[in-house]
Amino acid sequence: MRTELADRLGVEFPLFAFSHCRDVVAAVTNAGGFGVLGAIAYSPAELDAELSWIDERVGGRPYGVDVLVPGKIEGPRVDVAAFIPDRHRDFVAHLFRKYGVAAGSGREIRSADEFAGRVTAAGATGLIDVALKHPIGLIASALGPPPPEMVARAREHGIPVAALVGTVEHARRQVAAGADVIVAQGTEAGGHTGEISTMVLVPQVVDAVGEVPVLAAGGIADGRQMAAAMALGAQGVWCGSVWLTTEEAETAPAVKRKMLAASSLDTVRSRSRTGKPARQLKSAWTEEWDAAPESPGPLGMPLQMLVAEGAMARIGAAAERGEPGAVELANYFVGQVVGQLDQVRPAREVVYAMVSEFADAVERLRRLSE
Ligand SMILES: Cc1cc2nc3c(=O)[nH]c(=O)nc-3n(C[C@H](O)[C@H](O)[C@H](O)COP(=O)(O)O)c2cc1C
Repeated sequence: MRTELADRLGVEFPLFAFSHCRDVVAAVTNAGGFGVLGAIAYSPAELDAELSWIDERVGGRPYGVDVLVPGKIEGPRVDVAAFIPDRHRDFVAHLFRKYGVAAGSGREIRSADEFAGRVTAAGATGLIDVALKHPIGLIASALGPPPPEMVARAREHGIPVAALVGTVEHARRQVAAGADVIVAQGTEAGGHTGEISTMVLVPQVVDAVGEVPVLAAGGIADGRQMAAAMALGAQGVWCGSVWLTTEEAETAPAVKRKMLAASSLDTVRSRSRTGKPARQLKSAWTEEWDAAPESPGPLGMPLQMLVAEGAMARIGAAAERGEPGAVELANYFVGQVVGQLDQVRPAREVVYAMVSEFADAVERLRRLSE
């Protein structure tokens, strides 16, 4: 399928796969789509190793990198963990006791400090430097306009910058800041989302940004949804959730089982993992933070990320051992399409199925106009 953006990026099928898992990125790219590796989980050295691994497997086919860049890249690194109030540490300890998860002493907060450092000022710079050393075809940024340094460095390397948006105003701001591709992401998406649905957002963004190509994201997991997004004016689709139940995915087995069983009502937009509203599986973790009378309420980003990621590592390990309280708490980011995900398939099969469903959907529409 040809769109201007697909041609420009040298991709056969404009299906973009956001994933934190290198295996998914390589599999989708090799199947004719465009894998985009989420870099947030990695240190610069780890990212370098992951991208080298991908380079060795994709034979020069195009792929990209996504960095969770804060609005500005500057400032010294501070010990953010010191700003976590005792009330929040105590609440995590209380949840561990209530759900029978082996005690947390607060050390997991400390161990998550480096992780959060990557979404604070200086953290993103090192990741961008590493990404630009590899033959990437796109660099994406979430959480606000790409900083001028990022745009300038990407331009030097001839690499287009994509930016995720949840409103028309954000799209205009991103274009003004130099974004070359806009990913219009509806509220049904997994991860950080706004409040507007994909069906409503995409045509408005397409109209607002003129010549700048738009990818549709949020709620797209099969070829019918892809055809609908293209009908709205998108030049391709950007999917995240659909890869989480693939064979290759990084999703922890206990959480994958929850996803396969979940309906589209089983997600919630909650601040309890990162401090910003992010769609994820509903679990005891989201319900306790968001509704329990003793909850101190989530902190902002990145402090809540420190609180949550450390605790989630411990909860995840206990859930894998089958501890029932930990299974209740465990969750992960996923969108409303989780209700469609009921089998484990290789990522390449997901791509091929979407291509064929897309062709069927377009043919069905064509017949309607005969
Ligand atoms: C597990 C998960 C983690 C995500 N993390 C990020 C991220 O770090 N950076 C980002 O730009 N988008 C992130 N997203 C959002 C995706 O890029 C994408 O926009 C979204 O998944 C599309 O909607 P869908 O989940 O309905 O496919 C994440 C999504 C998921 C499901």
